[in-house]
Amino acid sequence: MTEIINGKVLAQKMQTELTEKVTQLKREKGIVPGLVVILVGDNPASQVYVRNKELAALAAGFKSETVRLSESICQEELIAVIEHYNVDDSIHGILVQLPLPKHINDKKIILAIDPKKDVDGFHPMNTGHLWSGRPLMVPCTPAGIMEMFRNYKVDLEGKHAVIIGRSNIVGKPMAQLLLDKNATVTLTHSRTRHLKEVCRHADVLIVAIGQGHFVTKEFIKEGAVVIDVGMNRDDSGKLIGDVAFDEVAEVASKITPVPGGVGPMTITMLLEQTYQAALRSVSH
Ligand code: GUN
Repeated sequence: MTEIINGKVLAQKMQTELTEKVTQLKREKGIVPGLVVILVGDNPASQVYVRNKELAALAAGFKSETVRLSESICQEELIAVIEHYNVDDSIHGILVQLPLPKHINDKKIILAIDPKKDVDGFHPMNTGHLWSGRPLMVPCTPAGIMEMFRNYKVDLEGKHAVIIGRSNIVGKPMAQLLLDKNATVTLTHSRTRHLKEVCRHADVLIVAIGQGHFVTKEFIKEGAVVIDVGMNRDDSGKLIGDVAFDEVAEVASKITPVPGGVGPMTITMLLEQTYQAALRSVSH
């Protein structure tokens, strides 16, 4: 029987536990974890994500701020907003929603965030911590996937993990987290040759490319664990993953659905990392 990895249920369980930890932190240290999300422009998908982050943060007892800025803001103005929050002691996590408008250099924006408040784990300082095997702030989607492996008892030791997609947000940090658990990792991308054959060797397959139903059952080894990071709309506007769920579920041993899989875990990890940053702010 194929097991469905239910990210929605796991995320809810973790957020309930987190709410209790936040109450305790407030009671014992008088600290309320604070998160600011900065959104530039009016990308509809980003607006939905940002709203969901705001609601989840408030539900967990956080201080939550959302800064909505015009598409026409210049880079220096955006950096000034970030610097304001870098020195605001009531804020422990700063997230700048990507993508940014083309006239803004996202690398410069990420560099402007205080690495201690970089709850996305995108700052080169945090990337360095991750790749040297001492992760501190880790990109939220791969961190959420590792929690799924832990909770669904997916043993990674010595397993062949194949990732499709080499983004800084998912593919690259995912590779390092899997290496840390002693998996053998193959990071594939759009120029990879014989992709289907490579994937057919995977004990664990993670798909993060943004192409609806790209991975079909021919990509899957019998009994593989399949994680779908995709969020695409089909012709009728329905949310679909990068994996053709129905046919792949016939071959996989465990699989994440879309929606209700990886997505809810990303927000949970964002809150968890903001909480951890708040804890560190009092222990230093
Ligand atoms: N856009 C899509 N995913 C993410 C994410 O994890 N963090 C940020 N900041 N922007 C995103």
